[in-house]
Amino acid sequence: MKKLMVANWKMNKNGNEVMEFLHAFKPKYSQKRDAWIASQALYLKLIINEGVSAGLQNCSEHVSGAYTGEVSPRSFKEMGGTFVITGHSERRQYFNETSRSLNAKNRTVLAEGLTAIYCVGETLAEREANLTLSLIADQIHQGLNDLSLANENNLVVAYEPVWAIGTGKTATPAQAQEVHAFIRQTLKAKFPAFGDKVRILYGGSVKPDNVEELLSQKDIDGGLVGGASLKPKDFLALCGDV
Ligand code: 13P
Repeated sequence: MKKLMVANWKMNKNGNEVMEFLHAFKPKYSQKRDAWIASQALYLKLIINEGVSAGLQNCSEHVSGAYTGEVSPRSFKEMGGTFVITGHSERRQYFNETSRSLNAKNRTVLAEGLTAIYCVGETLAEREANLTLSLIADQIHQGLNDLSLANENNLVVAYEPVWAIGTGKTATPAQAQEVHAFIRQTLKAKFPAFGDKVRILYGGSVKPDNVEELLSQKDIDGGLVGGASLKPKDFLALCGDV
């Protein structure tokens, strides 16, 4: 399975900075690992025009209609988009998204032919209360309930422990692998034809100096990266192009 590194730029970078990044990144990128970028929606066309796979950080569960301020996944697909990140913990935390409400969004994203990168993960309090695996099972069952996959590339699952996001505290490779193995089992039971080929990404303070050890774990198929994806040099290192 080819490893996948996804840059989640969140609400960072203006248009000039996006172009500067692409011009530094592209000539050195070897395609050894897949590299996808989620910028602010405003700049995605710039990324697509440079031939790099681009994704939204959120979208509407509807494809058109009277939903002021929303972004349609259908329009994004028509524009050449590749994927949508759904259920990032910042959206669950600040915008009240729930696994149940994300189910509709995941369905629309798949129906429109885009890849959903569905995020799951526990808070520190949940981990300390030993609730990690049951919480992740609920997030997967609710968010992906009754979804049908046409192939293994329709879906990516990202495990992002909330306590590791932007904190510099990375889950140890063993901690991450334990959860990834559990996600793998859950996906195999849910999607018998494709569950063993859906890529499972780890996110939370992934950096050039810890990426290889994380990627060496059996069920870690790539990374969803915030801070360390903002500099071309670091993102190239994460893509295996030092
Ligand atoms: P950091 O890599 O900055 O910890 O962010 C992780 C993340 O939220 C990616 O979606």
